[in-house]
Amino acid sequence: MDYTDSSYDSVDSWKTIILLYNSALKEINTKLEILNDEFQHVHRYNPIEHIKSRIKTPESIVKKLRQRGYESTIENMVKYVNDIAGIRVICSFTSDIYNIAEMLANQSDINVLSIKDYISHPKESGYKSYHMIVTVPIFLSDGCVDTKVEIQIRTVAMDFWASLEHKINYKFEGEAPEHIKRELFECAEMVSDLDAKMMSLNDEIKGFAASESELEEQIERQKRAAERTLLKEKLYGEAE
Ligand code: GTP
Ligand code: MG
Repeated sequence: MDYTDSSYDSVDSWKTIILLYNSALKEINTKLEILNDEFQHVHRYNPIEHIKSRIKTPESIVKKLRQRGYESTIENMVKYVNDIAGIRVICSFTSDIYNIAEMLANQSDINVLSIKDYISHPKESGYKSYHMIVTVPIFLSDGCVDTKVEIQIRTVAMDFWASLEHKINYKFEGEAPEHIKRELFECAEMVSDLDAKMMSLNDEIKGFAASESELEEQIERQKRAAERTLLKEKLYGEAE
C-alpha cells in the first residue's frame, strides 16, 4: 500500500501517515516494556529507567526537508526524514544499552536500517548515545506498512548531558562560546567516568548479592532437611 501516492487525498494521507508513526511508537514501546518486565521477572532487575517518545512536529519536518533541499511532500517526508517517530530509552548502565539494542534487533519483525554508536565513537561535542533506525510492520485493515522509528538509547547521565547541551545550543543557535563548548566536553568526559564507575560498582554488588542469596538458599535447604528429619523421628518414634 502506498499512502504517499499523489492520487490519494493529501489530508487523508497525512492523517494515515501520522497514525502509522503513532502506531509504530506504540509497538516499539510495548516491545521495550515486555523486555523490561521479563528482565525483572528473570533477573530481578530493570534495565530501563524510563522511555520518552514523540512525533516530530509538522514545522520541524518541513524545516528538515528544506535544510536538505527537498520539497515538502509526504513522499519526501517518509523517504528522507527518519525521526518522525522518535523514542528515547533511558537505561541505568551502559551494558543495558547494548543488551536492549541487541534484543530489539534480534526480534523477527524488526528491521534495522542503520546504527550509529556514539558511545564507542562519541561526537566531537562529546555527545554519547546509541542510535538505531528501525522499521516495524503496522497492520492496518487493508494491509501492512513497514514504518520507521528512530530509537535513541542512553544512560541517565548521558541523557542529563544531552538535555543541557541541547538547551545551550538552542540558546546560542548552535554557536556557543568556545569556553562553554570546552566545559561541556569536559562534562561529557565526567559522564563517561561516572557511567564506568557506576557500572563496575554495580557489577561488584551483583556478585555480592548473588553469593548472599545463594547462602540464604543453602540455609533454607538445611532448615527444611532438619525439619524433615525431626518430623520423621517424631513420627517413627511415636509409632515404635
Ligand atoms: P538529525 O541531527 O536529526 O538531523 O539527524 P542525523 O542524520 O545527523 O542523525 P544523528 O543520529 O547524528 O542525530 C539524530 C539525533 O540525535 C538528533 O536529532 C538529536 O536528537 C541527537 N543528537 C545528535 N547529536 C547530538 C549532539 O551533539 N547533542 C545533542 N544534545 N543531541 C544530539
Ligand atoms: Mg532528530
